[in-house]
Amino acid sequence: MRQIVLVGFLQAQNCTTIPAAWRHPEARLDFTTADYFRHIGRVLEEGTFDLGFFDDRLAMPDMYSGDHAHTVSNGIRCVKMDPTAVLMAMGMATSRLGLGATYSTTYYEPFHVARLFSTIDHMTDGRAAWNVVTSVNDNEARNMGLPHAVGHDERYDRADEFMEVVHGHWDTWESDALVLDQEAGLFAHGDKVHRLDHVGERFRSRGPFTVPRTPQGHPVVIQAGSSGRGQRFAARWGELLFVHHADMARSQQAYNSVRDDAAAMGRDPDQIKITNLIFPVAAATKSEAEDKLAAYQKLPKDIDELSLLSEGLNFDFSTKGLDEPFTDAELASLSGIQAIRDRVVERTGSNPTVRDFMSNSGRAQLNNAVVGGPTEIADHLEQWFAEGACDGFVIGGSYTPGTHEDFVRHVVPELRKRGLFRTEYSGTTLRDHLGLRHPERGSWKPTAGSTTP
Ligand SMILES: Cc1cc2nc3c(=O)[nH]c(=O)nc-3n(C[C@H](O)[C@H](O)[C@H](O)COP(=O)(O)O)c2cc1C
Repeated sequence: MRQIVLVGFLQAQNCTTIPAAWRHPEARLDFTTADYFRHIGRVLEEGTFDLGFFDDRLAMPDMYSGDHAHTVSNGIRCVKMDPTAVLMAMGMATSRLGLGATYSTTYYEPFHVARLFSTIDHMTDGRAAWNVVTSVNDNEARNMGLPHAVGHDERYDRADEFMEVVHGHWDTWESDALVLDQEAGLFAHGDKVHRLDHVGERFRSRGPFTVPRTPQGHPVVIQAGSSGRGQRFAARWGELLFVHHADMARSQQAYNSVRDDAAAMGRDPDQIKITNLIFPVAAATKSEAEDKLAAYQKLPKDIDELSLLSEGLNFDFSTKGLDEPFTDAELASLSGIQAIRDRVVERTGSNPTVRDFMSNSGRAQLNNAVVGGPTEIADHLEQWFAEGACDGFVIGGSYTPGTHEDFVRHVVPELRKRGLFRTEYSGTTLRDHLGLRHPERGSWKPTAGSTTP
């Protein structure tokens, strides 16, 4: 029976994606300690999740009024630690749980990223995944040596070449290159380790790569592009995709479209797992869950939304009055996560005001939460999964570690009872959990007659 994929959505920061998370009375506040992350890892592994995954952003959300004081005093995602270091703390406390972290193709060198994630794959016995992002806003650029963010589609053109270099390096050690024969004095076959010699429009990287081929062949590639260009990039490179749809018909349509794009590029669509982000509020009964939600809804502040809208859309929302509509030119200039803009414009039906953005984007809020006891939540997941809207779910948190503890305690047993989710891990690597084949060297290259973005 087809099985649901479950991903724990994690942040190496002081809150979840929702700033109010740190204000929750049951939130753990020792988020700068390894113990905090070891605990979350053990919870997810007890729930036989496929993986825990850390997002990233390379700046504080201080676009709003160009000042970070409100970000810091309100705890609006103002802590952001390196996700790969945190990932390793979690990896050392677990033995089966897959481990994903986000790294940007806009601000790092491909050799560095290829080496980092290959090393993690070795150190975790084949449990590593890399979430490929192109980054979003000017403040990340300013932290990383550029005056402003690279244009939206240009970011993806760069990312395509970045991926070619990374996969090229991952391929340069043949699987049987290592010999380790002390008697013969032969460490590895010199003719089975190749130089890359990449000279492209944006990158040069010679090699040879310094990390042998990894337990998974290479780490699993995650992608979450939501614009047209981003989705084509995801269809070309992603093995595990993250999407965020509240409407099932739309999710079904996007699911089919990305699989069709992948097939046109010569890929097997069944080798791509598509998971939809949800925010569950789970408890032993529906009424308990509803009480929890009501208590939670008292925690967010308006400044959370204004700050994260500015950050996500790369626009200072303090420059406009609350009821002043955005002009067409301003809407066109929003260069961050364009899907947020498009959703708000569609829902508003005209040029939205700041207030419209606040009430329709869901940013910084526990919005479209899936609320209930085991039966209600499992019914929701089963329907989306069975009716072709996704292959599984990214479980977003409203507070930490409570959301994932509640999900494992109340929902996982119900999914197992229905035969929709594993009762134990059957393999050791993340590819085993996801049902992804071990990649052959060069299998990422477009085949003759296939299309590329
Ligand atoms: C579950 C999930 C996790 C994401 N994690 C990150 C992240 O860590 N960093 C980031 O910059 N964007 C993240 N994104 C956003 C996407 O990578 C992407 O940038 C965004 O949807 C905009 O799409 P576009 O680049 O095609 O315009 C995430 C999206 C989803 C649904």
